[in-house]
Amino acid sequence: MRKIIFATNNAHKLSEVQAVLGDAFELITLRECGITEDIPETAPTLEGNALQKARYVYEKTGADCFADDTGLEVDALGGAPGVHSARYATDGHDFAANNRLLLKNLEGVENRSAHFRTVIALILDGEEYLFEGRVEGVIATEESGCGGFGYDPLFVPSGEIITFAEMSAEAKNAISHRGRAVAELVKFLKQR
Ligand code: IMP
Repeated sequence: MRKIIFATNNAHKLSEVQAVLGDAFELITLRECGITEDIPETAPTLEGNALQKARYVYEKTGADCFADDTGLEVDALGGAPGVHSARYATDGHDFAANNRLLLKNLEGVENRSAHFRTVIALILDGEEYLFEGRVEGVIATEESGCGGFGYDPLFVPSGEIITFAEMSAEAKNAISHRGRAVAELVKFLKQR
């Protein structure tokens, strides 16, 4: 089975991608390949960050690898929080504070359209490839649901009347930004 490094230590993301990949590729984690330090994510775009992480791993290991980066892009806020989604309100990953700030910044705003966007950067046989997945929706005026994570309690995908946090994991994955980006990656890998 061909091995490929997924630049994450997030077990949830790993099992999600492995499930879609089936047994064509075996995913290796950062820890398994001896990378324990935080990988820099200092680029101003999702594409830049995903590439920065994949290149870091490739330079250390010389092995096939991929990395992802995701942001919530709100139209009325000029695409914010975007690449800063994890640290919108504070330096930590404080989901509740991020959601409060988003609601505050959208107070009285009528256009609440937004999308999540995931970019995956793959380095295969030394060549770089980018894949994207996105899901359109709107930002609700209050939080609903307790599933998922991050901005899920505020995000109502187009065509739905409930938030991501009120959907089952399977239903969310079927239409989500990450699910779609992973599907593009897997389609490409399966052709190889
Ligand atoms: P990451 O690049 O996957 O680590 O995502 C960066 C940030 O975007 C996270 O810390 C969350 O705030 C937000 N985010 C990413 N994916 C999702 C999602 O599926 N639902 C809600 N928020 C998300």
